[in-house]
Amino acid sequence: MGVKLGILGLGTVGTGTVQLLQDLVGRNPLLQEIEIYRVGVRSLDKIREVELPAEVLTTDLEAIVSDPAVDIVVEVMGGLEPARSLILQALKNGKHVVTANKAAIARFGAEIFTTANQAGVYVMLEAAVGGGIPVIQPLKHSLRVNRIHTITGIVNGTTNYILTRMQTEGSDFSDVLADAQRLGYAEADPTADVEGLDAADKIAILASLGFDGRINLQDVYCEGIRQVSKTDITYAEKLGFVIKLLAIAKQSTPSSPSSSLSVRVHPTLVPKAHPLASINGVYNAILVEGEPIGEVMFFGPGAGAGATASAVTSDILNLVAVLKTSTVNPNPLLTCGHQDYCQIAPMTELVTRFYARFLTKDQPGVIGKLGTCFGNHGVSLESVVQTGFQGGLAEIVVVTHDVREGDFHQALAEIRNLEAIDSIPSLLRVL
Ligand code: HSE
Repeated sequence: MGVKLGILGLGTVGTGTVQLLQDLVGRNPLLQEIEIYRVGVRSLDKIREVELPAEVLTTDLEAIVSDPAVDIVVEVMGGLEPARSLILQALKNGKHVVTANKAAIARFGAEIFTTANQAGVYVMLEAAVGGGIPVIQPLKHSLRVNRIHTITGIVNGTTNYILTRMQTEGSDFSDVLADAQRLGYAEADPTADVEGLDAADKIAILASLGFDGRINLQDVYCEGIRQVSKTDITYAEKLGFVIKLLAIAKQSTPSSPSSSLSVRVHPTLVPKAHPLASINGVYNAILVEGEPIGEVMFFGPGAGAGATASAVTSDILNLVAVLKTSTVNPNPLLTCGHQDYCQIAPMTELVTRFYARFLTKDQPGVIGKLGTCFGNHGVSLESVVQTGFQGGLAEIVVVTHDVREGDFHQALAEIRNLEAIDSIPSLLRVL
């Protein structure tokens, strides 16, 4: 029997999720168990980017969360209400819930998780933080054997985009914000992003998972980026820093039972060598530090239809696996039941750029002969430099364009036979 989804909302994330679920080639075969059973929308008349049978679309969202046939409710409508009420109703009706709604989880998490626990169902929220970056599941599972002491994130793409442009262009906050709004990187009302409120919701959620406790959103200290000036960015740069809006949850004395937690969002001078300093543009990254693992960083797209749909669907997949697991059927996501071997391409078929360093006799025409041999095998050169001499031999370095590895080696075989070639000390692939 298929697993029936009731999706609430068909905006950017809902549409991305439906598109992903309608295009299953090359994805986990367990996704084939899923049926998009109902999709709740505000208007049936709107032109959609996805095709769905007429009986799937409905404006009656309450009917979806109370329909006995629905197994999983996917809340991707956003906002506080009616999202909160619909999530609670779905849970009370025994349905698992997948949500991308960080604002609702950060504010009503206690109520939502208490209701889920009472009903014996799950609330999954991978898409609520970091868009497509898998960070919720690792914090719940893979990393929780560690004693986590710090979570530091760049979890808001809009502010990271603005700060990155202020830094690279030396522009003012208000000019970059206006341009970001024009380009669609910032909302018409940018308050939640620019004031750090969106990041505060997200660090509250991460802290709650990393430190095993509920977080009152009012306890999260929050400063936005409006006061960051181009002058500050310039001074920071001179001092060896970049300015980032960091969301931080840090335990004072991790191994002590009386340890307290500081949870905060504020612009921060980050040393240029720090792993978060190079996270630019709309990208997000979350650095988790714990014992004994040390540092682990998650990096990727923090928003966008496809990225967020990936996170939503991974939650759905996890729930499908739970629903399919029984005493006779092991959890399909924990088994490795592959029967067939993957087809591996031979290295000769690899297409890549190469770096090669030649030591040659210092004679006229050597570079020309090298070029001819490469040309004979269809190997096109991106750059050729003669850097100097080593032990009386000329040192010539070439970087190729993308070439078939087999062709490159044939060219090299011909080059090795040239009388002027002494040796080829280095061959490296270029990304
Ligand atoms: N507004 C968010 C950001 C994206 O700018 O990162 C969704 O969480």
